[in-house]
Amino acid sequence: MSGRVKRSEFMLWAKTEGRATYHLGSSGLANYPLSGLPVLLEDLEITGNGFYGYGPLQREIGMKYGIPQEKIFSTIGTSLANHIAMATIIEPGDEVLIEHPTYELLLSTARYIGANVRRFHRRFENRFRIDTRELSTLVTPDTRLIVLTNLHNPSSVHTDEETLKEIGRIAQRVGAHVLVDEVYLDAAFDLSPRSSIHLGKEFIVTNSLTKVYGLSGLRCGWVLAEPELVTAMWRLKDLFEVNHAHPAERLSVIAFQHLDRIAATARSLLTANHGIVNRFLAVRDDIECVKPDYGTVIFPKLKTGDVGTLYSLLSKRYETSIAPGKFFEMPAHFRIGLGLSTEVFQEGLQRLRRALDEIVATKR
Ligand SMILES: Cc1ncc(COP(=O)(O)O)c(C=O)c1O
Repeated sequence: MSGRVKRSEFMLWAKTEGRATYHLGSSGLANYPLSGLPVLLEDLEITGNGFYGYGPLQREIGMKYGIPQEKIFSTIGTSLANHIAMATIIEPGDEVLIEHPTYELLLSTARYIGANVRRFHRRFENRFRIDTRELSTLVTPDTRLIVLTNLHNPSSVHTDEETLKEIGRIAQRVGAHVLVDEVYLDAAFDLSPRSSIHLGKEFIVTNSLTKVYGLSGLRCGWVLAEPELVTAMWRLKDLFEVNHAHPAERLSVIAFQHLDRIAATARSLLTANHGIVNRFLAVRDDIECVKPDYGTVIFPKLKTGDVGTLYSLLSKRYETSIAPGKFFEMPAHFRIGLGLSTEVFQEGLQRLRRALDEIVATKR
């Protein structure tokens, strides 16, 4: 069968065999419980009338960023946000520049839409930073979109405002847009970075409540962009769906009203788990890692043995999963998620330690 690829091997893996009791393969925060929100039955209703965005939710998103509602398109998770943002900008055959390595869905979505995908590198040797000089040599008059994640998935490296502005200037030169997937940005607590939406009209931002806040089940996602693009997104969305699940919209509003508290829970969990993983990394010379102080994932390189063997050993003997680097086109690496409850995370790392020790022992 030829034609467009209509599947994602990564997503299939993530939803099936990638899951384990000690699920270090996951990238989000442990699920925040409904009991942690002050919700009464009368706060919920089954059906609402927010065809083009539920007003109270649009207002909460607007307040988070200090932007007007005309710049907000709300949708189902960052997944559909990325899909609709790309489909609004890209015509089949258009050139799109996507970071390497990246979140696999950004690649498969661009390819599904029919983009001519080219890549710019975030090299391990360059601490996964974006090399804007290289990027500026890669854009052409046909480039319609530059795509990156901030924080970077899989490394959690933060791209600073100066670099982002430079990327904006590079895009402007050829009339392109810059899509910044910020689904992990709120985990950079101490940096308190501004969203790229404030950096210029060429920026399009996607985000959701899923990853940093542990609220994946609400599927509350959004795109921020210039009003005419947002209008085009609402028109495109008409082809996919009528309205969102209203109870989820109502719960999302309540979650926004308590977001500081939910963020504080995430922050203390991630701070503890960063400390644990730092101690783990400090004593291992079989792995090498660019290790930011924030974020929900890290992406170490395995220096002894291969990731396929480590992955099989972990799943067969240790009930533990990691995300293999092959899904990020860097097969010598693997991704570890830091968002599990500290107890489960600690036990998962113990199991990883034992599996790594076994591999080192066979190499002696
Ligand atoms: C960079 C990135 N964007 C988007 C998503 C999907 O987010 P959501 O669950 O909000 O659809 C993920 C999930 O892992 C991701 O890593």
